[in-house]
Amino acid sequence: MKHEVVEKNIGLMIILIIVAISFGFLVEIVPLFFLKTTTEPIKGLKPLPALALEGRDIYIREGCNVCHSQMIRPFRSETERYGHYSVAGEHIYEHPFLWGSKRTGPDLARVGQRYSDEWHRAHLTNPRDVVPESNMPGFPWLNENVLTGELTGQKMKSLRRVGVPYTDDDINNAKAAVEGKTEMDAMVAYLQQLGTLIQTKR
Ligand code: HEC
Repeated sequence: MKHEVVEKNIGLMIILIIVAISFGFLVEIVPLFFLKTTTEPIKGLKPLPALALEGRDIYIREGCNVCHSQMIRPFRSETERYGHYSVAGEHIYEHPFLWGSKRTGPDLARVGQRYSDEWHRAHLTNPRDVVPESNMPGFPWLNENVLTGELTGQKMKSLRRVGVPYTDDDINNAKAAVEGKTEMDAMVAYLQQLGTLIQTKR
């Protein structure tokens, strides 16, 4: 029996398994590299402004993404709570992606403009001042740490190398846009633009 040859030869079996699995890759993943909806930015998408870019790095440093996802799945239970489901073209300039799947807190993909700047400042300093039952930790030091903007232009240059369309002007003006601002200013700037290009009634 031909099948016996495969079953008794583990090397051949491994190769054939890899061949079988690669069909899955070809059919499901390869087309994504060529589909416009997954490779092109949505209308109006711009790279993050300097201050928001610094905010994003602080978001990563503080581990906000450990408790918060930024990915609304296309289910009614999600879209009714968080707004329009996430689409690939919104995230094209993000390196690294912060989609995540662990939700200790709510998804933040469209939290932009949902609350006032003042609300965010109060909430991030001590969440229980505005949400009494919250178990989110406070981040009061964001109010005190002042940014120099020394590296902001460099960060933009690195991002440009991987395809984020920062202009020379963006890079040259980055330091001035950031210098003297607090980490709280940067974080609020970052949060307030999240997901705002696609908004549905909430
Ligand atoms: C230990 C887990 C945890 C961490 C870390 C955390 N959060 Fe939260 N976050 C929560 C929980 C739980 C809530 C819901 C209660 C509340 O609103 O405070 C929340 C709520 C929020 C909300 C309000 C969302 C909404 O739609 O109402 C924002 C904005 C937010 N967090 C931002 C942040 C940022 C920015 C950081 C990092 C500086 C962060 N969180 C870190 C758990 C966390």
